[in-house]
Amino acid sequence: KTYFLCSYLIFHVLQSIVPCGLGGSGKAFLSTSSCPKVCIVGSGPAGFYTAQHLIKARQDVEVDIYERLPVPFGLVRFGVAPDHPEVKNVINTFTQTAKHSRCSFYGNVNVGKDVTVDELQGAYHAVVLSYGAEGNRRMGVPGEDLPGVYSAKDFVGWYNGLPSCRELKPDLSCETAVILGQGNVALDVARILLSPLDILKKTDITQPALEALAESRVQKVLIVGRRGPMQVACTIKELREMVNLPGTRPEMVTADFEGVSEALKDVPRPRKRLTELLLKTALDAPGDKELERRRNAAKVWGFRFYRSPTEILADPGRSRTAGIRLAVNRLEGSGDAARAVLTGEVEDVSCGLVISSIGYKSLPIDPAVPFDSHRAVMPNSVGRVHQAPGLYCSGWLKTGPTGVIATTMNNSFDTARSLLEDMDSGALDVSPAKPGSQEVSSLLEKRGVRPVTFSDWEKIDSLETRRGDACGKPREKLLSVEEMLKVARA
Ligand SMILES: Cc1cc2nc3c(=O)[nH]c(=O)nc-3n(C[C@H](O)[C@H](O)[C@H](O)COP(=O)(O)OP(=O)(O)OC[C@H]3O[C@@H](n4cnc5c(N)ncnc54)[C@H](O)[C@@H]3O)c2cc1C
Ligand SMILES: NC(=O)c1ccc[n+]([C@@H]2O[C@H](COP(=O)([O-])OP(=O)(O)OC[C@H]3O[C@@H](n4cnc5c(N)ncnc54)[C@H](OP(=O)(O)O)[C@@H]3O)[C@@H](O)[C@H]2O)c1
Ligand SMILES: *[C@@H]1O[C@H](CO)[C@@H](O)[C@H](O)[C@H]1NC(C)=O
Repeated sequence: KTYFLCSYLIFHVLQSIVPCGLGGSGKAFLSTSSCPKVCIVGSGPAGFYTAQHLIKARQDVEVDIYERLPVPFGLVRFGVAPDHPEVKNVINTFTQTAKHSRCSFYGNVNVGKDVTVDELQGAYHAVVLSYGAEGNRRMGVPGEDLPGVYSAKDFVGWYNGLPSCRELKPDLSCETAVILGQGNVALDVARILLSPLDILKKTDITQPALEALAESRVQKVLIVGRRGPMQVACTIKELREMVNLPGTRPEMVTADFEGVSEALKDVPRPRKRLTELLLKTALDAPGDKELERRRNAAKVWGFRFYRSPTEILADPGRSRTAGIRLAVNRLEGSGDAARAVLTGEVEDVSCGLVISSIGYKSLPIDPAVPFDSHRAVMPNSVGRVHQAPGLYCSGWLKTGPTGVIATTMNNSFDTARSLLEDMDSGALDVSPAKPGSQEVSSLLEKRGVRPVTFSDWEKIDSLETRRGDACGKPREKLLSVEEMLKVARA
């Protein structure tokens, strides 16, 4: 016992005088004070890409990533659609970063509750907030809270195994579903609602979601936008997947496309190609093979344009959703900047399921940190949080909830560059020694919070993949924080 205690002490004493960055290659300084310690909050793409850039750019920087959940990767695990496995390959790069000798992962730490940002700033030279956008924009219409109305954020979280959405159990017993918003998330949701089970059951979609979808009676999905065909927010690859989705046929309203082909001349190429695919799908007479395919399709999807929700209509008992009232819009202006203006006309559509997919939204996690609640982002210049020296932000918290993983990567690299610039210029003073994770760990221990390490996560990962193997899926996710912690600590 004494021997163990001694070697433990010696280990820790050594750790504190051994130069930082020794595990990495290159220069090492024989002083603890010269080792810049950076803390990152959130382990989605923004957190990992910021960490990656910092570690690569300087041989002495140490990075600790704190994550609220016991599992890493943010929306790559809980957002990206289960039938898009190739998108999740970024996890390989993130894993390399997490396993780097100058990077540590602390899961199961809720920043703002378990530890404050101020405490993190005391322990580290710099703190990068990259905790994403965990809220959602609301439609702000009567009936929004009726049973049968869900946010896309919750619906996606449910089929992807986000612990907080486990109890959603959406009611799929109706025939028509209306999705509000025409971005890629809306298309993800439409695809999951309409995909043949044979496709879904080979993905990492959760078992409860698979079972609910097997019982689903949804036959028709309308994807409703407030503006026109030239303003859809989805991209061509995702639209093409809808057009080719087995067992489904498109059904559009011809009148919505008036004047669209004439307006195509002057638009940038990606928008042009996207609109051409929409026009072709909506207006062209299908060839024999496609005609046959559509004839055999039991399910229907379609875009509806120039419509804004004004009210969710209830059944006579007011117990659940029976329809949606849509205001008819016209466009003022053209192109991306066109604005929807009410015409005064309304239209009711019967449906038992409404999913609002009009965007995610960042939330403040700590009252002491600046937050622009109007724009729902952290006020910043190239990642430097305004009026908060030593505090940085990246990802959706910095830019708002748009952009693919590559966009998030770029903006996270930009933030890392700002931070490195500030270290070099002296704007960020890294000369005083900082205790880093040692201090935070003891705070957490006092508060009864036990972090999950990256190797703990690897136990969860390997259990999930083994469970997946057993049923022909790449992974069968654990669905609750309790289960995750149990496996992590086994
Ligand atoms: C449904 C959906 C599908 C998508 N599909 C694709 C796709 O197919 N391809 C593509 O390129 N892009 C896709 N995207 C976009 C992509 O997911 C984002 O660009 C990216 O995830 C944003 O990264 P982020 O790190 O800012 O946020 P997130 O990925 O949300 O990561 C934030 C992390 O912070 C953690 N966190 C939150 N609060 C705290 C706290 N208080 N303390 C500690 N940690 C906290 C969260 O748990 C999370 O792990 C999709 C987005 C959505 C919403
Ligand atoms: N496969 C992929 O690559 C993939 C998958 C999922 C998500 N993502 C990315 O993740 C990001 C977020 O996706 P997202 O779909 O949530 O957001 P998004 O692309 O911004 O789309 C939001 C949609 O909601 C509409 N909307 C917003 N506010 C509204 C309101 N008040 N009333 C009615 N409609 C409203 C928008 O219409 P207006 O244009 O009129 O505002 C738009 O159609 C995007 O960059 C997306 O590309 C990528
Ligand atoms: C990311 O940045 C690179 C280099 O500046 C650029 O070529 C690329 O288009 C950017 N990608 C996105 C999605 O913004």
